[in-house]
Amino acid sequence: MQYGRDTRGIRSHIRSLERSRASRTRPDRPREFTMLGREWELLDDVFAPPYSPSTGVAADFLGLGTPLPQRKASAGPSLLEIGCGSGVISVQAALGGHATVVAADINPLAVENARVNAARHGVEDRVTAVCSDLFSALGGRRFDRIFWSSNYVRAPEDYAYGSMHERAYVDPGYQAHRRYLSEVTDHLTEGGRALLHFCDRGEPDALRSIAAECGRELRTVRSRTVLEGTDPIRHVLLEIRPATTRPARGRNRRLVRV
Ligand SMILES: C[S@@+](CC[C@H](N)C(=O)[O-])C[C@H]1O[C@@H](n2cnc3c(N)ncnc32)[C@H](O)[C@@H]1O
Repeated sequence: MQYGRDTRGIRSHIRSLERSRASRTRPDRPREFTMLGREWELLDDVFAPPYSPSTGVAADFLGLGTPLPQRKASAGPSLLEIGCGSGVISVQAALGGHATVVAADINPLAVENARVNAARHGVEDRVTAVCSDLFSALGGRRFDRIFWSSNYVRAPEDYAYGSMHERAYVDPGYQAHRRYLSEVTDHLTEGGRALLHFCDRGEPDALRSIAAECGRELRTVRSRTVLEGTDPIRHVLLEIRPATTRPARGRNRRLVRV
């Protein structure tokens, strides 16, 4: 079953599940990889950055895309990364000057992987890895920046995951996206920013409808098109804000003047 118009098949959840299985089981899946000028460990069943452009694009979107010298971060902002996977973005953020980073994932192996990579790069004092279904384990903590590079492909509402790894690729009925859009702004400090890395393997129109239903609006902050095999895929960094409606009085006044 496919959703939305998709002449290239890029939105097919079946195809994404095949990509998940291939990434998880290929015999040359590395135990370590190089990215952003550093070496990273990769545990079994964790999203593999070498097999997807997503992690590199996410790092670029957040201004963390170049090899970073370790900066002092006592006064830097706080970051919550939902879906930290192997921890590349969280560790880069700590190296790049974030004072505190919470690296959260629903996959316990990803949490362990982020912990290992934070220690490997000497930022374990600033990166706390937590097993959490979105915000469930975070209590009332608030952050200056919240970011999720999501599982942007929509699977049927009743799809039952076959492995933890599949959670990096598909979201049944966009249920997790709906919760993220609706809850994320409750976890921000004043002036904080809620961000979502999405791409057109997902369904931007469906996402915008869900955002509107949750009383949120989405603003595109950055975009980049990447060739994945033969498919040009557009990646976007979206900022999530409470929806604003223009007051009717203002609209009427403008109409009269015209
Ligand atoms: C596309 S991967 C990105 C991983 C990592 N940030 C990177 O760029 O390499 C999406 C991540 O979101 C996690 N995830 C999916 N659903 C989640 C949920 N409900 N709560 C927390 N994390 C979730 C997956 O386990 C996966 O690690």
